[in-house]
Amino acid sequence: MLSRAQLKDPDVLRHSVLDFRQMSAFVQDPLIFERADGVCYWDIDDKRYYDGISGIFVVAVGHGNRRVIEAMTAQLERMAFAPPLTGANTQAIAFSKLLADITPEPLNTVKLLSSGSEATETAMKLARQFWKQSGTPTKYKVISRYYGYHGATLGALSATGTPSRRVPFEPYPAGFLHVPTVHCYRCPYGREYPGCGVFCAEFLRQIIELEGPETVSAVIVEPIGNTGGILVPPPEYLPILRRICDDYDVLLIFDEMITGMGRTGCMFAAQTFGVTPDILCLGKGLSSGYAPLAATIWSDRIQEAFWGPAEAGIEFGHGHTYAGNPLSATAGLASVAEILERDLIAHGREIGAQLYARLSAMGERFGIFGEVRGKGLLWGVELAQDPAEKTPFPAERRIGKRIGAVAQEKGLIIRHDPDWFALAPPLVTGEDEIEAMADILEESIEQVLGE
Ligand SMILES: Cc1ncc(COP(=O)(O)O)c(C=O)c1O
Repeated sequence: MLSRAQLKDPDVLRHSVLDFRQMSAFVQDPLIFERADGVCYWDIDDKRYYDGISGIFVVAVGHGNRRVIEAMTAQLERMAFAPPLTGANTQAIAFSKLLADITPEPLNTVKLLSSGSEATETAMKLARQFWKQSGTPTKYKVISRYYGYHGATLGALSATGTPSRRVPFEPYPAGFLHVPTVHCYRCPYGREYPGCGVFCAEFLRQIIELEGPETVSAVIVEPIGNTGGILVPPPEYLPILRRICDDYDVLLIFDEMITGMGRTGCMFAAQTFGVTPDILCLGKGLSSGYAPLAATIWSDRIQEAFWGPAEAGIEFGHGHTYAGNPLSATAGLASVAEILERDLIAHGREIGAQLYARLSAMGERFGIFGEVRGKGLLWGVELAQDPAEKTPFPAERRIGKRIGAVAQEKGLIIRHDPDWFALAPPLVTGEDEIEAMADILEESIEQVLGE
């Protein structure tokens, strides 16, 4: 074990690479977590941080959950790995059945994976193979949205629509198109809801027609967009996407990495918005972070195209070494059981309303919140220098980043970007803990505005 001084030594740290982070800066002032319990982390100096974002939309049932730990410890003793090319395993079968039971009909076939990027890439590969063996092999294009995030691997990144994430890795494979995202506060088309007639959804019809419906395999969206500050669509938006996909026989994929597992007030955003996709992608909160775990779940119609005699060669041609890993599936089983049996979704709705009330009050107090947006226990704040005029802060002020940095100094971790920040604490967070997190956030904003 390295000593505390060694762990902080830039010469030791330079061997590590964090996600999306300039390491030359990080090694000078590193944050090094050592342990976690409930809704808090502690760093190697024993400083406590409230987890205002569930790790990164992951730790639904909280840190140190005994039920998950005990289930995984018992499974470790029984079997940590089973070969996915050779056979199924008890845990993966049970978890796949559980997911088929709790997802909306007709989503009944489950491919267990390890990461969100794998899940979205699996969905897009599935769509292509589905059309190849269902009579329309020309359908291959995938339509996604600018500012959507679907993962960091090359296929998932092809569907991702955030310029800063995409540009360094161009060029991408052919067949990926993007449309503007849904953002009522700053409509990319300069229109206003509801007079706009939800043009951002209707626009998809034009794109499919112009591309040729016989070339379009799937549309992939996050039901609530994260990048941009928790972009909640108006209620008609997802039903319109569903109708357009049905009209042109295009598969609708929901990337519910963030919105799944109770985050938006129902188990899945598909239920929150009353729209069932053809393919549902889950990850993050699926295991609450106790083991890498993700899933791609698809409809009976799709599965029929893959079900036939072995000689037909129509099985889904896809796999990963850790697909259906028994330890990860055990984490998923225990975490979902916690959510269901403790009715954590109802609790999440309650503390979500409490958090929204605190954020709204802060908006009144500080006068710099353009919009507080979200559902359930997922809330974002878009910052504006003049909310009435929707005037953003000068870009160089990076106000959201500054608020996030000060909050971290004061012991609260949130998601933050230059113009917005978001909170999504664990579903198990207590009312007092929500108050404590909100207090730190409020103090942080006060400090930043006084600088
Ligand atoms: C909506 C969404 N999709 C996909 C991913 C990719 O997941 P992973 O980082 O597990 O590959 C993320 C990760 O942040 C995400 O937020």
